[in-house]
Amino acid sequence: MPGSVLVIGGGGREHAIVRQLARSPLQPTVFAAPGNPGTAMLARNVALDPSDTQGILRFCQNEGIELVIVGPEEPLIAGLADHLRHGGINVFGPGAMGARLEGDKEFAKEVLHAAGVPTPHYQAFSSSETALDHLDTMDLPVVVKACGAAQGKGVAVCSTRDEAEAFIRECLDEQRFGSSGLRILIEECISGPELSVLVVTDGQDYCLLAPSRDHKRIGEGDTGPNTGGMGAFAPVELPASLRAQIDTRVVLPILAELRRRDIPYRGVLYAGLMLTSHGPQVLEFNCRFGDPETQVVLPLLRGDLYDLCTATAAGALGDFLQQYPAGEGDPDGWPGAGVSEWGRRCVVVVGAADGYPGTCAGGRVIELPADRDGAWIVQAGTRDADGALVTAGGRVLGAVGLGADLGKARALAYELLAGTHFEGLTYRRDIAAKGD
Ligand code: GLY
Repeated sequence: MPGSVLVIGGGGREHAIVRQLARSPLQPTVFAAPGNPGTAMLARNVALDPSDTQGILRFCQNEGIELVIVGPEEPLIAGLADHLRHGGINVFGPGAMGARLEGDKEFAKEVLHAAGVPTPHYQAFSSSETALDHLDTMDLPVVVKACGAAQGKGVAVCSTRDEAEAFIRECLDEQRFGSSGLRILIEECISGPELSVLVVTDGQDYCLLAPSRDHKRIGEGDTGPNTGGMGAFAPVELPASLRAQIDTRVVLPILAELRRRDIPYRGVLYAGLMLTSHGPQVLEFNCRFGDPETQVVLPLLRGDLYDLCTATAAGALGDFLQQYPAGEGDPDGWPGAGVSEWGRRCVVVVGAADGYPGTCAGGRVIELPADRDGAWIVQAGTRDADGALVTAGGRVLGAVGLGADLGKARALAYELLAGTHFEGLTYRRDIAAKGD
């Protein structure tokens, strides 16, 4: 008897999740709340706001939903998963205590320190006066972060004192990020390539999905302001010694520290790493699938996503993992390597509206190319306007390519994007160009 699953959210990540669920041999009935026009082609969209916890619980009980997958961080931080679990629903996503790793960066730093996991030095401030005094004692560049969740926009890498002062004042005095920016971290700036590691865990067992690399800056050559992510690719090839360090120096101690604190965690713990010359350091945690990393990590799953999420939500991830032992050619030192495939590469290039990451005009008519073998469009900031597909956000869509190597995957994604049109479409031409 096929199950039923509700995906919370309506962006590119959620379209990617719905697309993967729709391919499950278990053929679950898929709902999305609120979804977008992309999910509507594969699932039933339900007009429920992700913050409407009572409405979501009622819907799950009325429809007999067996699994809820929560996409965005806000409802997790607000405790949606706890509320649904109390109502008897299986949820893929941590409760509020676990989601605090993303919702409170100062708390995340405390947990990292307690676990002995390398992370840049920092200090926290609530007053711009003391923050600016401290700034004068630091070498530049520095990183200034809003402590609360700010949709990827609450972080500034500042090369000059003026930039740092401006961002500190935006957070603490002008309250640009509301309550999320009323406390800030000022961090030392470390350098190296970034890596996104999605750890699926039920609190006991865990597996690491294919490592991916996001391109967070708006401009080519990694220039300009940070965004939610302008493109990504997976898997990133890593030397065996680095794989082992990620597992033993980062993932294992953090999961042990969560258990020590009695923080249950069933879902994805996303570790945003910087690979420095001294080893991996944790820049941040997210309590959910990355966006746009999900768009490139899920198509590489050998294991079935519905099965993986159901097992994780039920605390039975170990049983699931037994079905996917690592095979020949799979990387060693990467727990759960058998869950992903390693012989192909996947690339997503985000098509944004001009103005992003600032304010963007919506309502521009979108012409989409047809998906083709190994290349498809994931919708994000789109909406249906009387039968026409129009823009409704900064990151409008992603073109995904899946190929035998990075060059083929890139070519497929960029070809599809070349056939996509709306007024003001902008995208980076260098996604996955370096490939390491
Ligand atoms: N790609 C960054 C994030 O999901 O937060």
